[in-house]
Amino acid sequence: MSKFRTHTAAELSILQPETEVTLSGWVHTVRDLGGLVFCDIRDHSGVIQITCKEENAAIKSALQELKSEWVVTFTGQIQNRENPNKNQVNGAIEIIVDKLTVLNKAISPVFPIDKEDTTADEITRLKHRYLDLRRPKLAHNIKLRHHIVQAIRNALNNAEFLEVETPMLTKSTPEGARDFIVPSRVHPGTCFALPQSPQLFKQLLMMSGIPRYYQIVKCFRDEDLRKDRQPEFTQVDLEMSFVDESDIIAITNILLKAAFEAAKRPFPAAIPSLTYDEAMASYGCDRPDLRSPIVLNDLTPQLKTTEFKVFNAVANSKRGLIKALVAPNAASQFSRKVMDELTEQVKPFGAGGLAYIHFEENEVRSPIAKFLSESELGSIKDALGAKTGDTVLIVADENPHIVNQALAHIRLVVSEKLNLFAAEDRLVWVTDFPLFEETDNGGITPMHHPFTSIAPEDIDKLDSAPLEVKSRAYDVVLNGVELGGGSIRIHDPEFQSKLFSVLGLTETEINSKFGFFIDALKYGTPPHGGLALGLDRIVMLLTDSASLRDVIAFPKTTTMSCPLTDAPSKVDSSQLDEIGWSLVND
Ligand code: AMO
Ligand code: AMP
Repeated sequence: MSKFRTHTAAELSILQPETEVTLSGWVHTVRDLGGLVFCDIRDHSGVIQITCKEENAAIKSALQELKSEWVVTFTGQIQNRENPNKNQVNGAIEIIVDKLTVLNKAISPVFPIDKEDTTADEITRLKHRYLDLRRPKLAHNIKLRHHIVQAIRNALNNAEFLEVETPMLTKSTPEGARDFIVPSRVHPGTCFALPQSPQLFKQLLMMSGIPRYYQIVKCFRDEDLRKDRQPEFTQVDLEMSFVDESDIIAITNILLKAAFEAAKRPFPAAIPSLTYDEAMASYGCDRPDLRSPIVLNDLTPQLKTTEFKVFNAVANSKRGLIKALVAPNAASQFSRKVMDELTEQVKPFGAGGLAYIHFEENEVRSPIAKFLSESELGSIKDALGAKTGDTVLIVADENPHIVNQALAHIRLVVSEKLNLFAAEDRLVWVTDFPLFEETDNGGITPMHHPFTSIAPEDIDKLDSAPLEVKSRAYDVVLNGVELGGGSIRIHDPEFQSKLFSVLGLTETEINSKFGFFIDALKYGTPPHGGLALGLDRIVMLLTDSASLRDVIAFPKTTTMSCPLTDAPSKVDSSQLDEIGWSLVND
């Protein structure tokens, strides 16, 4: 037993009155009522109220001197409170202190620790992250993160996965982001890259004969940050040999179930699977939030002969698409103001407008009703299964991406406004992704990464119609957030080289960037595949946190800096001299 504590705050409620206990912690609050002084003391497990006998003048004045966040140790007897606080875990008891030692004083915290939600701005909170982490909510997130990691580790260990570490100082692994680079002192003018993922190494481990690998590993990506993106983040990374898609999906479902159980959250009873094409058709995106029942429908065929010029032009253009969704019972709820607001929200996606039709009891209200015939209105209503009282929202564009992105967004906004999100979590697997996507300048780039296997039936299209080729990649999505992704890999060296050349790499580039990898593939590579889950995202969703920053002990800001340490910072000129580098603009 430590001299600092016989019990933690959380252990007190089951003890009998008059039990003598010693605890240590931080002063959470002090309430000096003149005659009596009450302090809440906080340790890692919770809060307990302390006070003293009125006649104990020495302790009373010691309590009166206490200030927020001082570190104290005390001994006293448990007593039932005269005015129990039902909202607190230890609200029925308090400790009558007869010995109190201040272990350390504290300067006044820059923001209050005793409030659930602080109003301090995020930069201040990150600058004093050690204070922020004392707040019960963040402390809980960090603790739960540990339990989730342990549950996932246990599940992987039970399934006979081997944990193997892979290098942090390495060569670029293409995952679609910019690399963070680390200059080499020993080899002037050259750089290591921090791994965007352990992709190449985990595949090399399959070639090394390890049947099942995992690693809970930091990955580094220099990309624009969002609330679900950090420049360094943690993956639960895994790879297996002699498997197909169903094996990876099965083990991942086991890991996710373990994570949900660690968070004491009901695991979805069914996990549906959609192809990428189905997801795009019904939800307009490859990470659909299935908590909303709204689906998108294609109206292009119905509108080929309409006299409404906008729709006619789109319906008869090469790639044009007209899609719609039904907002149930919205006709009486969505005012003109709401419709204007929704219309504004499709514009950033490049959409020309958002057409709407309110199907009311005795009339159809719509700015485009005058352009549509009775039968066109009827066929739109029928095709969408809209009912009287519903509002139909339509986007048309010659670029199908614009239509899908705009309506995918509107689907979520409308679901929120109409309160349509189910309370339960919804997981979904999305499979059969395209192998490539188009770049802004009309080229092609891998949708996942260039080690992804191709659907065998599409091999003939690789040169002639690469954008139509499907891959053996899959993603798992929770409540509209991509939790993880992976694929069955290419294990044939010739095909791997071929893929790099389809991507426009010359033979010299292939050799300098990936020669070592293609060589390794030639020595007898088993079929293999894997996946990586974003651990931070899992914890974010399972703690209902709004940002990844709430589940990472020491995160970066959205402008990719660390206010606590002031990183990144300038380096000494001697450090630059050592690596043989000089700054052009200093
Ligand atoms: P991918 O690039 O899809 O796949 O990454 C896997 C998962 O990692 C999480 N993630 C991120 N989390 C926080 N911040 C980021 N910047 C960030 N980027 C990605 C996401 C994502 O689903 N090597 C492949 C996996 C494989 O093929 O096995 C890979 O890294 O949750
Ligand atoms: P306009 O003739 O441009 O004033 O448009 C008439 C109606 O059609 C307005 O309600 C617009 O919001 C809508 N609209 C215009 N362009 C589109 C489009 N590309 N997709 C859907 N609705 C549109």
